[in-house]
Amino acid sequence: MIKIAIDGPSGSGKSTLAKALSKKLGYIYVDTGALYRTIGLYMLQNGVALTDKAEIVRRLPEITLSMFHDENGSQHVTLNGVDVGDTIRTSAVSAAASAVSAIPEVRAFLLDTQRNMAKEHNVIMDGRDIGTVIFPDADVKIFLIAGNEARAIRRHAELIEKGENITLEQVLSDMERRDVNDRTRKEAPAIPASDAVMLDNSSFAPEQTLAAALEIIKSKLNKA
Ligand code: DC
Repeated sequence: MIKIAIDGPSGSGKSTLAKALSKKLGYIYVDTGALYRTIGLYMLQNGVALTDKAEIVRRLPEITLSMFHDENGSQHVTLNGVDVGDTIRTSAVSAAASAVSAIPEVRAFLLDTQRNMAKEHNVIMDGRDIGTVIFPDADVKIFLIAGNEARAIRRHAELIEKGENITLEQVLSDMERRDVNDRTRKEAPAIPASDAVMLDNSSFAPEQTLAAALEIIKSKLNKA
């Protein structure tokens, strides 16, 4: 099966790109951030302090996660049998996801769910460590980046559209804090694989990012 890894920080446009690639190539799109978000949501729902790593690890066996794609190709994550839907897209859950994602046991807990997705399908998988840890043997690895301002503006527009009352400054400072957490954690830091192709889309419209990614994919798959 073909595996395409799209890594990069939040707001860099990974999910927009990965969704467009999935349509174009007919591969399934796997958003791995949704899994960390779902663990974060569970801890919030159960009043577990995000600073209490031991308690977070102790509660993991209570969680059954599954991931499936509906007939439109949209991904769904269920938490103990209930579809989490958009409840994982709030800024509180973003912060919780970043906190739980630094814990090695949480990452280990989610490893098989991610790897299993590529057993029966060609996949476009987006995350932070897809090219480094989940699929070091991915056929194509793209690390998507964009300037902080550009990323914050995109994320802010998404949150406002969902009805959150939050300023651009707040989004920028939350994002910078999470970036530092994600990049500097010991386990699977969010850094590019040595064989990833860097793609800066700060000044690109989504269709330009798609065209650039398709070029990268074409050249890598032709060489294979
Ligand atoms: O991509 P996202 O914003 O939905 O990710 C939510 C959090 O999960 C983010 O802080 C980084 C973390 N994450 C991770 O550590 N590894 C992944 N493969 C995907 C997300």
